[in-house]
Amino acid sequence: MLSTRPPALDDDPAALDAIWTALRPERSTATPMIRAVMISSVDGTTTVDGRSGGLGTPTDRLIYDAMRARADLVLVGSGTALAEGYGPAEVSPVWADRRTGPAPVILVLTRSLPDRLIELCAGTGDRVRIAAAHDVDPERVEAARARGVTVYILDPGPTGAAIRSLLSGLDAGEVDFEGGPRLLGTLLSEGAVDELILSVSPQVIVGGDTSALTSGPGNARVPMRVVSAFTCSRGGLYTRWAVGEGVR
Ligand SMILES: NC(=O)c1ccc[n+]([C@@H]2O[C@H](COP(=O)([O-])OP(=O)(O)OC[C@H]3O[C@@H](n4cnc5c(N)ncnc54)[C@H](OP(=O)(O)O)[C@@H]3O)[C@@H](O)[C@H]2O)c1
Repeated sequence: MLSTRPPALDDDPAALDAIWTALRPERSTATPMIRAVMISSVDGTTTVDGRSGGLGTPTDRLIYDAMRARADLVLVGSGTALAEGYGPAEVSPVWADRRTGPAPVILVLTRSLPDRLIELCAGTGDRVRIAAAHDVDPERVEAARARGVTVYILDPGPTGAAIRSLLSGLDAGEVDFEGGPRLLGTLLSEGAVDELILSVSPQVIVGGDTSALTSGPGNARVPMRVVSAFTCSRGGLYTRWAVGEGVR
């Protein structure tokens, strides 16, 4: 019988295989491949009390951890790293047998390189690094390097191209981009994101934070096509979107 329901997956071993397969990227000519990982509620809210954690589900956590376990590098905006209190990435025990080598380095994008960000990166054993915009204040860079923080300087020009150039130089093939909305808006409108892995949390939030999935000064319409989708017994919808027109 035909069904319009997406397959329901959970965290038993067979489902783990299915989730891992669902997250495998399409063959891509784009290297590096930048894959954004985001969550929203059914109404499109992306934070609860300023953080995305309030939307999470166990299945979303599996996906988030799997994307980190797959990645050569994790990329994130300074706003997100500070709001969510980032630290070094760990490979989740659930996915550890599918990854060889250590957890990916986290690379935080910044323009102003504030003290709080230097504090967050210092003492992480070089596992949280900084990529600063071309026009960053050199004194801020000195201050970070004096604390033992690795700081890369992006090329001038569009943000997406500068990031791609840096990622290529770092030999990063698959990049897990964890937001936030401002950088996602910039990178999507510049055509610098290859995929969006979006969890739809099983709830509508009335009168919550007014935080959209993307924001930014631009006004772009980016075509997307769904590549895989599944649900789980606890609710929620887990989708993988490729950027670009598909066959209609
Ligand atoms: N629901 C979700 O899936 C999800 C995911 C991620 C985040 N979030 C939420 O989103 C919020 C944070 O997101 P956000 O949109 O405000 O910030 P964001 O996108 O994480 O970071 C923005 C920051 O990136 C830096 N930046 C911007 N353009 C740059 C460029 N061209 N080169 C280098 N650095 C550049 C700037 O850092 P400086 O200010 O340091 O100069 C800017 O303030 C938090 O509340 C977080 O919880 C939700």
